[in-house]
Amino acid sequence: MQPHLSPRTFDDDLRRLLAARAAVVFIESQEEGRLERLLNNTARTFFSPPIPFYVWSITEGLMPMGGEKIPGSEDPVVALSAVIEQPGFALFHFRDLHHFYDQPRVVRRLRDVAHNLRDHYKTVFLSGGRPALPMELEKEIDVLELPLPSLDELERLFTAVANAHPKIEVQLGEKLPALIRSALGLSEEEARLAFSKLFVGVATLGPEAIEELHDEKRRIVRKEGILDFIVNRVQLDQIGGLATVKKWLTQRRRYFSVDAKEMGIDPPKGVLVTGISGCGKSMVVQAIASYWQLPLLRLDMNRIYAAVAGTPEQTLERAIAMAEAVSPCVLWIDEIETALVGTARGAGTQATRIFSSFLTWMQEKDALVFVAATANEIDQLPPELLRKGRFDQIFFVDLPSEAERLEILALQLIRHNKDPKLYDIVNIAKSTGNFNGAELAEVVQSALYDAFDEERDLERGDLYRALGKIIPLATTMAERIKQIKRWADTRAIKAGESEERN
Ligand SMILES: Nc1ncnc2c1ncn2[C@@H]1O[C@H](COP(=O)(O)OP(=O)(O)O)[C@@H](O)[C@H]1O
Ligand SMILES: [Mg+2]
Repeated sequence: MQPHLSPRTFDDDLRRLLAARAAVVFIESQEEGRLERLLNNTARTFFSPPIPFYVWSITEGLMPMGGEKIPGSEDPVVALSAVIEQPGFALFHFRDLHHFYDQPRVVRRLRDVAHNLRDHYKTVFLSGGRPALPMELEKEIDVLELPLPSLDELERLFTAVANAHPKIEVQLGEKLPALIRSALGLSEEEARLAFSKLFVGVATLGPEAIEELHDEKRRIVRKEGILDFIVNRVQLDQIGGLATVKKWLTQRRRYFSVDAKEMGIDPPKGVLVTGISGCGKSMVVQAIASYWQLPLLRLDMNRIYAAVAGTPEQTLERAIAMAEAVSPCVLWIDEIETALVGTARGAGTQATRIFSSFLTWMQEKDALVFVAATANEIDQLPPELLRKGRFDQIFFVDLPSEAERLEILALQLIRHNKDPKLYDIVNIAKSTGNFNGAELAEVVQSALYDAFDEERDLERGDLYRALGKIIPLATTMAERIKQIKRWADTRAIKAGESEERN
């Protein structure tokens, strides 16, 4: 998951496979150019003497690097046959062969290749999209992931770009590592382009380049639409009730700073805010970021599965690398259960795989990325997520107590420039027993509409009428809510100081 932390590199993995005479290897990567350069490099350096490296595409056919096309090899069956017939050692890269997986002749020939190459130092690499491999082939193929460029690779890339601009002096000093780190999460091409842009129209390259790189990255993130930068965030004092969460947040504020890190204090890893819908879970997450003055990035797990380019794993890796590069920050995963259960587009196993790489990352991360997840359907959450060491705290947001309802009503009125003292909200709080925060907000909103329609100021009666029109969710879903509460009783801390209820 974290290429820059993992001790084993892509190169190591690749060499291990080659030494084992792997026949067909699928490489998960969107970076065709980088992959081919790496493979070509391996063909030249891992083998002595160097062996040829062939590339196939439907338009160019099969040809060795810098050599001549094998006649007729645009036809994938011809190309695959040529692979089998090739007498010596060699590596081959087939671009986008998955477009042909619906053709029995191609699939058969690919299987022949898999069988034939087993005893030779010849390996066929496949890449491109995430094709569902034909069933018959699944077992014969090794899969290898080409992670995004590591810090080392990015540093080399930066040096190369800097060397191409000899007239511009790089004055980054000790900020250089920070600049390199800011490029994490970018593909090689993107990083090259982003670095190059920094050198345009400047005489020297100073620390302000880091901000520029962040901007560039934000643009890329936005274009891809996996992470949202949330700007207008809820403030802590806009939340009614939930005193326990607020206290927790206030206490932890200083833990999440560079000072604390220097003191050897582990920063909080994250919180899971569970509970009944409409009671302020999303608000809490936003308030965390605003109170701690950290950027807030929202990760939409559904978009991870729907990503057009790259596998879900890569997309997640990229999103995480992006978040790490913007750290310290809060990474918000709203309604995490929808991503983990059921609605995920991929089959269950895929969701499980992605989820476990996410957990591994959470466990091992040392970047200051605070994960704030929310969940409604809490009893569907996999137990691994709840295990100690993942989240610092699991909160349960209950229906607001009477005192909390009073606070929420007051805040909602103040939001609309109304003086709460004028509206008898003590009694309204009493008569809204099953209401959640969203419904209380709706009471105020709809009362305001009524008053506005009749061209007069808001009156108490409007609020009473409005609340009479709402059937709270908690009433229609009483059974379900009981279940949720029972679940939370033993597993989570109450986010508010809610009253006893029957
Ligand atoms: N504790 C609260 N204090 C103030 N407003 C609240 C509270 N809980 C809910 N609301 C209102 O309900 C809306 C929905 O809350 P939200 O945080 O999205 O709920 P959840 O994420 O738990 O479903 C908020 O935008 C706000 O107007
Ligand atoms: Mg929500």
